[in-house]
Amino acid sequence: MLKPILLSTPHMGDRELEFIQEAFTTNWIAPVGPHVDAFEQEFCQAVGAEHAAAVSSGTAALHLALRLIGVSPGDDVFCSTLTFVATANPIVYLGANPVFIDSDRTSWNMDPDLLEAALQQRDRQGKLPKAVVLVHLYGQSADLDPILQLCRHYDIPLVEDAAESLGATYKGRSPGTFGQVGIYSFNGNKIITTSGGGMLVSDDPALVSQARFLATQARDPAPHYQHSQIGYNYRLSNVLSGIGRGQLQVLNDRVAARRRNFEFYHQALGDLPGITFMPEADYGQSTRWLTCLTIQPDRFGCDREQVRLMLAEQQIESRPVWKPLHLQPIFANCESRGGEVAEALFKQGLCLPSGSNLQEADLHRVVQAIIRLYDRTGVNQLRV
Ligand SMILES: Cc1ncc(COP(=O)(O)O)c(C=O)c1O
Repeated sequence: MLKPILLSTPHMGDRELEFIQEAFTTNWIAPVGPHVDAFEQEFCQAVGAEHAAAVSSGTAALHLALRLIGVSPGDDVFCSTLTFVATANPIVYLGANPVFIDSDRTSWNMDPDLLEAALQQRDRQGKLPKAVVLVHLYGQSADLDPILQLCRHYDIPLVEDAAESLGATYKGRSPGTFGQVGIYSFNGNKIITTSGGGMLVSDDPALVSQARFLATQARDPAPHYQHSQIGYNYRLSNVLSGIGRGQLQVLNDRVAARRRNFEFYHQALGDLPGITFMPEADYGQSTRWLTCLTIQPDRFGCDREQVRLMLAEQQIESRPVWKPLHLQPIFANCESRGGEVAEALFKQGLCLPSGSNLQEADLHRVVQAIIRLYDRTGVNQLRV
């Protein structure tokens, strides 16, 4: 029986249990406590943010972020189309309408030219969006400078969804810390995990303190329970924050390991006809959270889905690149700009097993399976 090789699994370090033990010993088993405070501070140091609020998920962090910048029913919010659905769901939670913007081919992230054209048009119509939600995809920062410039020019807040890109850089700084608010995820498949969790960061202390307030049911300062606003139960527990503190200590190792996975795949498969790896933009370092590639069927001999199914038969988990949100049934009535780039990436894109705890033998199994498939294809036989 073959050992399953999964896409991206949790990878604990040496200190997490110690921090959990401390939470138990001191009986801080609550969504408040010293690990929560320390995790927020240590996270700020790790990414270079001023203030942070630890919450129960990246989705919760986005929901709070959008609410705090004032997204309201009927507003339009521009949003990357090539992403996981959690990027856009909070827009809808607030009764606003996502408008999806396509990716560029070099970073797979929001295309600044397309954003500019969309903003110019909306400006002429007097219908500027309430916010821009920018995703940093698969470990790679979007091209922040032109996007920030546009947001400043039109005076539109930028919310950065850096759920997948903790540990990446853009011109030496951490994506997630450039806009009005940034969010990160510690979901089980992320580069570091608290089993589930998220972080909201901002340079604005009032915004972060409001985030904490809303995340704890918006309880007014009164001896009894009094509420003047609708809040949420979104705070991260002290136990899970302990895991986060341990994980933060190994973040750099995890980035290095995922980049090594990428190098391995790239060396072994990069010369196969029809295979192209996700490019690394020259403005920063990708974490290669997931190693992604595209497969051109006419050159490789079979398509992305055939490769995925063949890997699955061999107990190797791979995933198609995100299905663009403008193609999702739930967003069928939403406006979008462009879309061909994201559609092509979805059609041909595959994410390979990328965990920082993969063994070299696992990586060999993945590349051998793909090379064997290529060797069996008609295209290859024609070439020989
Ligand atoms: C781009 C992106 N945004 C948001 C999220 C939501 O994070 P969470 O699962 O912690 O709610 C995820 C991942 O899960 C994601 O990949």
